Order: sequence, then structure tokens, then C-alpha cells
Amino acid sequence: MVRLTPPITGHLTERVYWECAGPGHAGLTVGAGCVRWGFLHGTGLSVTAGCPDNEDWAHGVLALQYWRVSAQPYQDPRLAGVYQRGNAMPTSSLQAWVDKILSLGPADRSATLDVGTGTGMFAAALAAADVSGVTVGVDPSPAMLMEALRFNSHPRVRYVAGEAGALPIAANSIDLALLSRVIHHLPDRRRCARELRRVLRPGGAVVVRTTVRERLDAVVYDYWPRLRELDQARFPSAAMIVGDFETAGFAVTASASFSQPVQPSLRAFYDVLASRPQSKFDMLTADEFATGLTRLRQAADVEADEREVRERYDVLAFSVR
Ligand SMILES: C[S@@+](CC[C@H](N)C(=O)[O-])C[C@H]1O[C@@H](n2cnc3c(N)ncnc32)[C@H](O)[C@@H]1O
Repeated sequence: MVRLTPPITGHLTERVYWECAGPGHAGLTVGAGCVRWGFLHGTGLSVTAGCPDNEDWAHGVLALQYWRVSAQPYQDPRLAGVYQRGNAMPTSSLQAWVDKILSLGPADRSATLDVGTGTGMFAAALAAADVSGVTVGVDPSPAMLMEALRFNSHPRVRYVAGEAGALPIAANSIDLALLSRVIHHLPDRRRCARELRRVLRPGGAVVVRTTVRERLDAVVYDYWPRLRELDQARFPSAAMIVGDFETAGFAVTASASFSQPVQPSLRAFYDVLASRPQSKFDMLTADEFATGLTRLRQAADVEADEREVRERYDVLAFSVR
């Protein structure tokens, strides 16, 4: 057992699972060593970290440091705790997304990477569709990874702590990489694109699922109009994303807009948004959030015929040049 003081601060409460990488571990190969789950106990400023049968801490400590430097809103256990339910979609919608994503990558796959996996909704669904391969879900937030383990464990998914700018993944090891609703969080998109270029095999592909700046038209903006302004500053345009990936050695292979139902009615939409399940709501004051929520409830109350709420995303696919 090793005591780490302080580098982990903040929201650790009970038990956080983490990846321990080092020689001698059986399991998925990542970087120079192999990974398996270790464990970390901690509260407040100090934690005790342990790995049952390996004393090589180097990669584990590195991963923990990644957790500190990014994904700040997602370190919040409140947000992580409500994220899965608040962002779930009907199984048929998730399956349609998975089909779409897989159609944009190489048919022959043995390893898929979900960058910014969050609670692992896509990682598990991709793994279920990919019976012969492994899927790695990478995220810098331990709080989100805990929820991924809780809700989306899957025998062919490994969840790994790390971030897009320094992927804890071996070079030339991945066939298809997904970034779903992550690109606007990245402090350095070009660095992420370079990392993806490094980890992808020849013939590999990246699928970016986002809303590009020029098409921010989600239903949520009808009720919280200031969010649209804030998102316009955060979300990159299609040209910016394409530029970053081209600079890193990718070519665009597809660009599409795809929509799926997420809730059966405004009432159901209200019910999930009431839990503030997205980090964007943290940009609003409590009053702004409450006002928008009241607007949404009033609209739900007078909705005569229930209409499903759909979410549309832009999809950009890139292949290694
Ligand atoms: C909106 S959630 C998306 C989760 C999931 N991909 C989905 O579509 O439901 C954004 C996720 O990106 C992660 N994230 C934030 N900064 C990141 C970074 N620099 N590298 C990788 N992931 C990051 C957050 O921790 C969070 O889990």
C-alpha cells in the first residue's frame, strides 16, 4: 500500500477504482505495461492507494494526476451521480447511434476507444455490438468512471483513467475511436488529434459526435436561451474540428447530422433536466436555472399531444491519411 499525500484532493469519498499499469499484470496492454483494476480509498486531502498484487505504481499515479488536471465539472459526484439517468436514451436510439458510428469505421475491428467515456453508455453499447474486440473507455474523472463501472460494466470493456491529450493507450493499437460530446471540453484539440493519430492503426478512424457551433439548436436552448450564447463560445465549428484533425494527419471521410428521440414527451424531458444532469447548467446561476426549469414545466403542463423530444448531433468522421 502506498500513501499519496496530497495529490488527490476534492471529491473522493469512499472507494474509487482506478487503473494500475505495470509489468506483470495480465490484461489489456496499455503503453509499456498492462492494466488491471486496483483500488483507491480516500477522503479529503489524503488517500491510500493500493494494488493487490503489484508494487509498480508509476502509471497509476500518473493516471491519478490526470484526474486532477481536467474534467473539473465531472469530478463532482453530484453531476456524475445524475449523469447516467439524465442522459440515457431509449435503447433503439442508442442502437441507431451505435450502428451509425460503426458504419463510419473500418469493418474489421479488434479494438475500439471511447475518449471521454463518461458513464460508459457508448463504450458498453459499442462492445455489445463488437463481439470479437475490446473497447477501452478513457475518462479523466474518477466520479464518472465509478458510474461507468456501476451502470455499464461489460466483459469486453476496460475503463481507464486518462485524458484525451495524453491517452494511456499504446501506439497503433486502436481501429475506431469515438469522441461523443467531448470535443468542447478539450483544452487542446490538436493535441488530442495527434494522440488519436498515434494510437490508431493504419486504416483506423475517428468519429466525433458533437453539435458544431453553427448548428446549436437543441430544445434545451428554448428554455435556457443564455446557454446558447455560452455554448457558442465553447463549441468549435465544423471547420475548426476539420482543421485540427487535418493538421494531425487525418482526412475527413464523412460529415452528417443525425437525430434520435431522447425522451417521449416534454414532461419526461422536464423530469430528467430537473436533476441538472449536464455540466452546462453549472454555467448558469441558480436563479437562471430555476427560471428555465419553470418555463419548461409550464410548456410540459400545456402540452396537449405528447411529442417526443429529439436530439440532433453532428457527426464528423476522419481516417488516417
Ligand atoms: C458530456 S460527457 C460525455 C460522456 C459520454 N461520452 C457521452 O456521450 O455520454 C463529457 C465527458 O468528457 C470528459 N472529459 C472532460 N475533459 C476531458 C479530457 N480532457 N479528456 C477526456 N475526457 C474529458 C468528462 O469527464 C466527461 O465524462
